[in-house]
Amino acid sequence: MSKHIPIAVVGSGYVGLVAAVCFAEMGHDVICVDNDERKVAALRGGDTLIHENHLPELLERYRNTKVRFTTDLAEATRECQAIFIAVGTPQSETGDADLSYVEAVTCEIARSIDTYKVIVEKSTVPVYTNEWISRALERNGVARHLFDVVSNPEFLREGTAVCDFLHPDRIVVGADSERAAAVLNAIYAPLTSGEYYERTSGIPGVCSVSQPPPFLLTSTKSAEIIKHASNAFLALKISFINAVSNLCEATNANVEQVARGMGLDSRIGPRFLRPGIGYGGSCFPKDVAAFRSVAEQLGIDFSLLTEVEKINVQQKRRFLSKVRSALWTLRGKRLGVLGLAFKGETDDIRESPAIELVRMFLGEGCSITAFDPAAIQRTEEILPAGPNLKYVDDAYAAAADADALLILTDWSEFAALDLQRLNQALRYPIIIDGRNMYDPAVMTENGFTYLSVGRPTAHPVRELSASSHN
Ligand code: UDX
Repeated sequence: MSKHIPIAVVGSGYVGLVAAVCFAEMGHDVICVDNDERKVAALRGGDTLIHENHLPELLERYRNTKVRFTTDLAEATRECQAIFIAVGTPQSETGDADLSYVEAVTCEIARSIDTYKVIVEKSTVPVYTNEWISRALERNGVARHLFDVVSNPEFLREGTAVCDFLHPDRIVVGADSERAAAVLNAIYAPLTSGEYYERTSGIPGVCSVSQPPPFLLTSTKSAEIIKHASNAFLALKISFINAVSNLCEATNANVEQVARGMGLDSRIGPRFLRPGIGYGGSCFPKDVAAFRSVAEQLGIDFSLLTEVEKINVQQKRRFLSKVRSALWTLRGKRLGVLGLAFKGETDDIRESPAIELVRMFLGEGCSITAFDPAAIQRTEEILPAGPNLKYVDDAYAAAADADALLILTDWSEFAALDLQRLNQALRYPIIIDGRNMYDPAVMTENGFTYLSVGRPTAHPVRELSASSHN
């Protein structure tokens, strides 16, 4: 039986809340701290506040028992041996991560440390943050032997976060002291020993029981860099395939075939090679900018990352040009839009390329009717409905009488629409798909002009036979 460690998680946002309930699922007792009283009350009442698979079940199972929610950081610090800092590190105007929340929490923790504590960086932070945390603790009167600071980055994807936490590819712990490493080792022992997988059958339908993950122990600085380097590399992979997709469009090749051919090389791997309208979300744009800024401050030329960002911006402009090329002009056109979230199966709209494109089309004088299965409410808060922007309840209403339908988010339900119904709803049967949700041959059979990313344009059968007479 693994040793259960009392854990405090500071911050009940995305990473913090998932970590808190998953630590409980692994067998630990957790105190989750947030300074927002309304949030704490909602969580105590069983409201997760974010849309994430399996989170409601786990919260229901452990709330107010193995996971307690509180605003009292001092008490949580005194009661727990490991304190995970999972507060936000938003992007500042210069591209740097804004660490003021991490600093504020550190100073508050310092006031309550009276026995040995391990302070764990769970938020994504730049290299050297561990040294700043140590300095802040010491400046606030904590004796050096009473704490260690370790880095334990998180690799959660929205939509599969619970699964990613309990079935990770690896657990990375950056610790410069054996004592701190032993605490983290004990915390993750239910996973690394396989004990958790023996006593559970996994999360039904999604996570199957997996091999115990490797526990990678590194220096603290290396772990900090692993997080930024991993996200920047994944963003690079996406920008790379987006650039390749443009090359495929220019040569009438098919990016899906190219990606498959590349991905079968085990050194490259098939994942994160889906072209689209550019990456978005709360992590990639922010982390690439922060990593670039870290390199700049250290005098390292990492302009590769600037190119990654540049391709990401261009990819949206290219999509707009593609729509223009299909419709001749944009001013006054009615566009149906499917998808507002930054990716499918989430209501998160942070840095969503779909919303950026909606703004760009509005700027071009188009009128838009948009549908998203979960993100309309959040979108309305930042982009209210108006004379040129309407939100509707289903995909067919978005298509109704539109000059073209645009697919901007890869919701799985968008791949299963009734194509004949869509065809009849549209004013012109034109679909411009930024996520390659459909097989062009199927669209041809269903009478659409279908433009996607990095694949030859499909024309309706009718049109093809007409042009063959020319
Ligand atoms: C990401 C990382 O995957 C995760 O490890 C990290 O902890 C947080 O950031 P997330 O932001 O939830 O997770 O989304 P992810 O599924 O990685 O997608 C990010 C963006 O890239 C989305 O806009 C998605 O549409 C886009 N994407 C992803 C592509 O355009 N092509 C791909 O092949 C994969």
